[in-house]
Amino acid sequence: MTDRTKSAAEQQAREEALVAEVLASFDNTPDDRLRELLQHLVRYVHDFIRETRLTEKEWSQAIDFLTAVGHITDDRRQEFILLSDTLGASMQTIAVNNAACADATEATVFGPYFVTDAPHVDLGGDISGGASGEPCWVEGTVTDTDGNPVADARMDIWEADDDGFYDVQYDDDRVAGRAWLTSDQNGEYRFWAVTPTPYPIPHDGPVGAMLAATKRSPVRAAHLHFMVTAPHRRTLVTHIFVSGDDYLTQDSVFGVKRSLVKDFVRQLPGTPTPDGRDLGDRTWSRVRFDIVLAPAAV
Ligand code: BEZ
Ligand code: FE
Repeated sequence: MTDRTKSAAEQQAREEALVAEVLASFDNTPDDRLRELLQHLVRYVHDFIRETRLTEKEWSQAIDFLTAVGHITDDRRQEFILLSDTLGASMQTIAVNNAACADATEATVFGPYFVTDAPHVDLGGDISGGASGEPCWVEGTVTDTDGNPVADARMDIWEADDDGFYDVQYDDDRVAGRAWLTSDQNGEYRFWAVTPTPYPIPHDGPVGAMLAATKRSPVRAAHLHFMVTAPHRRTLVTHIFVSGDDYLTQDSVFGVKRSLVKDFVRQLPGTPTPDGRDLGDRTWSRVRFDIVLAPAAV
């Protein structure tokens, strides 16, 4: 054995011994799941450091980055979730926890703009609450995976206005672009909203700097959020996206699924609306979204 191969072997042995030592330090964790998660984490973190041959300067920069993520996080701004979203970790967690089930509608990222006390609207009502944008008629059904209608499903809907802001991003306490309603006895639903437009995620912090350094766009493809809940059904958190949108292939949080891309069909001014609403000389759009709920896990 040459000196060089001897040193390489010694180096590898030292690195592996450290991994084994750290793994063993968690061996007596009473909670099996906590032990499993921590030991996997240690394995992957050590693999990452060893495979990339991470320098001490890079390690220090990573600590500075995470420190900045912590510093900008408060009750209103959650930079850690944004980091998880932009690394695709949020979507991977959603994929793992919403297993494909017959033709059940795919789930996608929740995002930071849901609020629990949105107003109720009747079927056919307007969730825009004065949010700016082109009126959009949304209709469809809620069924189970056997095709049976799901009556009285609670549907929470939320969206940004056409300036790219959710109501909670304004500091005037407005409530707009959000509401909840319930499906009728045939599982059908309908409401007015505004046609979704693309908007950027908050990118004035460390996550924005990461996107800029990697030449990634902060923009989310245009979407309308849904959360649908019904007894004995898996809660569905999803969006629908606008076919033809330029950002479908570069959504900053990897939320786009082909099955969720819908035709928002633009209607010329004067086209009669489904409920007789008079929109004067405005264009409007309409979209159909048939929702299939998976059974709740037993
Ligand atoms: C959103 O869709 O509202 C959203 C999702 C992830 C990060 C930021 C915004
Ligand atoms: Fe959103």
